[in-house]
Amino acid sequence: MNNEILSMKGIIKVFPGVVANDRIDFSLRKGEIHTLLGENGAGKTTLMNILYGLYTPDEGEIKIDGREVQIKTPSDALSHGIGMVHQHFMLIPIMSVAENIILGKETKKNGLLDRKKAKNKIQTLSQQYKLDLNPDDLIKDLPIGTQQRVEIIKALYREANILILDEPTSVLTPQESKELFTILRSLKNEGKSIIFISHKLKEVLEISDRITVLRNGKVIGSVEPGGTNEQQLASMMVGREVILKVEKKKMDMGAPVLVVNDLDVNDQRGVKAVNSISFTVHEGEIFGIAGVQGNGQTELIQALTGLLPFQNGEVTIQNRKLPGENPRKVTLLGTAHIPEDRQKYGLVLPYPVRDNLILCSYYSKPFSNRRILNFPFIAEKTSQLLNEYDIKAPGINTITDTLSGGNQQKTIVARELARDIKLLIASQPTRGLDVGSIEYIHKKIIETRDARCGVLLVSPELDEIMSLADTIGVIFKGQIIKILNVEEATKEKLGLLMAGIHQ
Ligand SMILES: Nc1ncnc2c1ncn2[C@@H]1O[C@H](COP(=O)(O)OP(=O)(O)O)[C@@H](O)[C@H]1O
Ligand SMILES: [Mg+2]
Repeated sequence: MNNEILSMKGIIKVFPGVVANDRIDFSLRKGEIHTLLGENGAGKTTLMNILYGLYTPDEGEIKIDGREVQIKTPSDALSHGIGMVHQHFMLIPIMSVAENIILGKETKKNGLLDRKKAKNKIQTLSQQYKLDLNPDDLIKDLPIGTQQRVEIIKALYREANILILDEPTSVLTPQESKELFTILRSLKNEGKSIIFISHKLKEVLEISDRITVLRNGKVIGSVEPGGTNEQQLASMMVGREVILKVEKKKMDMGAPVLVVNDLDVNDQRGVKAVNSISFTVHEGEIFGIAGVQGNGQTELIQALTGLLPFQNGEVTIQNRKLPGENPRKVTLLGTAHIPEDRQKYGLVLPYPVRDNLILCSYYSKPFSNRRILNFPFIAEKTSQLLNEYDIKAPGINTITDTLSGGNQQKTIVARELARDIKLLIASQPTRGLDVGSIEYIHKKIIETRDARCGVLLVSPELDEIMSLADTIGVIFKGQIIKILNVEEATKEKLGLLMAGIHQ
């Protein structure tokens, strides 16, 4: 292909115990948006870190404009016109947009910084690519979506022709993603070439010219959006057929299970994170909380599960008032909790799977009797759970740390749902999981609801909220700004609400 500006051939990168990139071939044409699609751990970031000079490959060659190059550092990459927008931004919050952009690339005039010239260049670029940036704004005052545009302009300022964006939409609201796509299209029209990384099928189909799927460090195939669909892409990512659509009966709502009234919660620094929130979750109902991360969801859930005290308001579970800050009492009221950070709050990683499966029940009969653990019963029960919940582990004595993220999550789900519960609080239950585990956990959540439990589901993924929830509350800056039925919710409506815009 003569308009091919980049080619990577036979790239191999091995980390201790894992082949992150296994003979990967990848190429990019001028003016193309080429997506790297793959589950967590597929090897996408590794490949891009190699291209950007952050890692050295064990084997393989990189050609730019047909010539082989050695990229040993990010400044090598930049000198070849390659810029990268990382998953986590690398901006200095207390500095201005302009200062961040010119950092390390100062325009000098007689040995002095030529600020005026730099600012002019920034303004020109901002207009050319519709980035809508003000050079004098401080980074810390800007929303995430705007900060991301600063990262983009930073690469353009350094004359990048190839832009790598590593999961740029994972931190954006749907509207911000739309704006980003408009910018990507205008970059493309100006002849820039873009490597876009994502694991979200819909957006990948929308924005890409070409899609290359990675799985376990290998290229599974390259397809064009016109010749594929979500189903096929999911199968390529996972390696088997996946059911993407969640099947669900009509809701049959019963009595209230969880009632939250006028709740205020401070975060760990003492700043108000939840601001007079009220809502009710009923038997047989999934109440979904939609919102961009960091709007109080974490503190709300921690207060409801007894991990954080609350300053004001009332929480009742099954008509019993929550004493506040007592996780075991909350558990004993019939609450199951799938926490947002499974490794920190959900599991004791150095313990065997067996012990993690009984963390909430070992202190009661028949697991123990007068403080003596009933080991034969525990072994039988936990082996059963391993089977029933399809946890891929050699046995109940396997150390939990050695399981994959998906299987760790299934361990939590098994433990929490196997008890006699009336309320399930699930916080980002599928974060970072592969499509196969997501499918499984969604099915379990629906089963729990159909077994007359109330379910409180928090997720930043609109697709997840919209396919599981019966009722949706949108959280913004610590407040639930709207509660609506799933039938009246559209992605657009929710997206606007998530950005704090309501008519
Ligand atoms: N610096 C590193 N050290 C050790 N292992 C790593 C490192 N970076 C990535 N890996 C491993 O390489 C594999 C691919 O990871 P990554 O490229 O981050 O995947 P992706 O970006 O597709 O989610 C994973 O198994 C990951 O744990
Ligand atoms: Mg990655």
